[in-house]
Amino acid sequence: MSQILELRDVDAFYGQVHALRGVSLRVEEGEIAALLGSNGAGKSTTLKTISGLVRAKGGSIRFLGEEITRLDPHRIVELGIVHVPEGRRVFGALTVLENLELGGFTKRKDPAFTKRTLERVMHLFPRLNERAKQRAGTLSGGEQQMLAMGRALMSDPKLLMLDEPSMGLAPIIVKEIFKIVRQINAEGIPVLLVEQNAKAALKLAHQGYVLETGQITLQNRADLLSQDEKIVKAYLAN
Ligand SMILES: Nc1ncnc2c1ncn2[C@@H]1O[C@H](COP(=O)(O)OP(=O)(O)O)[C@@H](O)[C@H]1O
Ligand SMILES: [Mg+2]
Repeated sequence: MSQILELRDVDAFYGQVHALRGVSLRVEEGEIAALLGSNGAGKSTTLKTISGLVRAKGGSIRFLGEEITRLDPHRIVELGIVHVPEGRRVFGALTVLENLELGGFTKRKDPAFTKRTLERVMHLFPRLNERAKQRAGTLSGGEQQMLAMGRALMSDPKLLMLDEPSMGLAPIIVKEIFKIVRQINAEGIPVLLVEQNAKAALKLAHQGYVLETGQITLQNRADLLSQDEKIVKAYLAN
């Protein structure tokens, strides 16, 4: 399998706070990798460091064979890494359709491509299609998450990074969102999925990593991790 993303010994700081300590992980072609860990472990920081929003202090980040560690965030998006941040952040005053069109804006000047991708997104998310003219601010939390993911797809990502897509959503909506993540991945897009919901994430993912206070403490195939006694105790017992 060929490698899409590789972090090697990445360190990151917020002032004196040493948020990432030698983080190494990979996302392979066609796979979903899950990054698990409790609140404050450094999951969001890992995604922000990959996106260039937080500067790596040491180590290296390679994407499709290219060193991206010191590139600007807009350059990293252009290369195809699209980050759906925690808490969604859709444009509430704009309609669903306008939000999606904005997603396609940065990447493609090709209207045929945009039209095709929009059709694909509406097919993946029928709820968005039904609400195309509705203001995004009036959508439910789950629908806003779908919109944030749909907008990310509009820019033709080569790696999709999702930060806690299930946060604050009812179990039935989480199921729907995870099913769509699986479909997106089945279309060939590799996914780096950050989750506190370890059980659901490991069902979906091929590979799993556990982050504790800025360090990767466990990594394995997702099916094996979900049987790991330490994981079961810390994250799956309920
Ligand atoms: N903007 C910031 N300024 C200072 N410290 C931060 C900032 N963002 C996160 N941190 C700290 O970095 C650590 C990792 O945070 P974060 O990556 O958000 O964790 P997670 O996403 O796993 O909950 C935490 O100790 C958090 O308090
Ligand atoms: Mg977070």
